[in-house]
Amino acid sequence: MDDLGDAPATTPLLSVVTPTFNESENLPILVEELHAALDGIDHEIVVADDDSPDGTWRVAEEIARTDPSVRVMRRFHDKGLSAAVLDGMSIARGEYLAVIDADLQHDPTALPAMLDELRSGADVCVGSRATEGGGYGDWSASRRFVSWVATLIARVLLRVPVSDPMSGFFMISESAYARAAPSINPRGFKILLEFIGRNRDLRVAEVGYTFRTRTHGETKLNGSVIRSYLLGVAELRLGRQVDPVFLLYVLVGLVGLGVNSLVFTVAEAAGVPTITTGLNDAIDPIEGSFALSVMVSILVLFVLNNEFTFWEERYRGWKLAPAFGVFFLMSLIGTLVHVAVFKYLQSIGFLLSVLGADWSRVAQNLIGAVVALIVNWYLNSTYLWRRRQR
Ligand code: GDD
Ligand code: MN
Repeated sequence: MDDLGDAPATTPLLSVVTPTFNESENLPILVEELHAALDGIDHEIVVADDDSPDGTWRVAEEIARTDPSVRVMRRFHDKGLSAAVLDGMSIARGEYLAVIDADLQHDPTALPAMLDELRSGADVCVGSRATEGGGYGDWSASRRFVSWVATLIARVLLRVPVSDPMSGFFMISESAYARAAPSINPRGFKILLEFIGRNRDLRVAEVGYTFRTRTHGETKLNGSVIRSYLLGVAELRLGRQVDPVFLLYVLVGLVGLGVNSLVFTVAEAAGVPTITTGLNDAIDPIEGSFALSVMVSILVLFVLNNEFTFWEERYRGWKLAPAFGVFFLMSLIGTLVHVAVFKYLQSIGFLLSVLGADWSRVAQNLIGAVVALIVNWYLNSTYLWRRRQR
């Protein structure tokens, strides 16, 4: 970090921290919009830039030269959105601290209402897209869906009292920040969740705003961010007792189970014929519906585990082919276990009297799949996506 600017004579009421990475085109507009929105409110702007290759820090320093309310932090280490926000907050001098994206997607005109909430007793005020007066703007259906799922997870698992827990737009009082900051894990994008998920006694208010479309630069949100978000939620919820990657594996396994059951049920209804391999009396005859559901779910599971669960160890390019081959073999081992359990449960008529002929078969199939999932986790995580010691 270099030039922090000249200290103003008095401490400002509000510090606005904005994390930046390649936002050189957006930053000057943001600063103007902030000054306009905060007219009459004593404020400073702290730019926390991660040594952006596009020179955002230089643009910021240029502005700071004539605008003493702007302070610039050029960060070289521990890069990342949350870490930058926390660093910015640590040098902020205001009684209240706001965080706003620099890409103009957050609406600065919501800040005065957020400040009012804090001044009337709230510890944190969230700029929310999902409350009255808020909106997601023109988001694609897929991005809305991802956000909806992530919001649901946070609300159900963490029971946070906000409609938009992933918002990167919020304000917190200096005193609440000082109380909460020591427990925060500065990884990923979920900085607000860190504050309110770990500190249940904080009084949280919300103000609606409409998410705006990015016009310059591009988002840094990608699949790995979603993954680290889920890992973060798991850690907030369960501490470090359970391997969070195993939880992702189970989550993916559940999707696989859903696919498996769906294909199985549909194929049963469609009357897919049985297959006789002629290899082994214990295996023959194989239910066609069973074989089909296993094939489809193996493929789905490989893709999801490679792209998501074991993202850090993922295979790319030509290596995908042998990796899928190994995965397929491991899955066949799991499938043998699956078949054995299914056949056994069928032979003893497990749950037959309770569920009837059709549903007991679905249940027997499901139980076989759960046992296979555990066997496969061991094989996959030990031999295929070998995880580095952490
Ligand atoms: N210093 C720093 N370092 N800033 C970063 C980094 C980083 O590694 N990554 C992103 N930023 C800055 C961007 O320059 C921008 O000002 C802001 O953080 C948000 O980054 P985007 O890449 O635009 O994120 P987004 O719009 O996809 O995500 C926003 O919405 C999410 C929920 O929908 C953010 O507000 C997230 O916090 C939020 O969870
Ligand atoms: Mn953005």
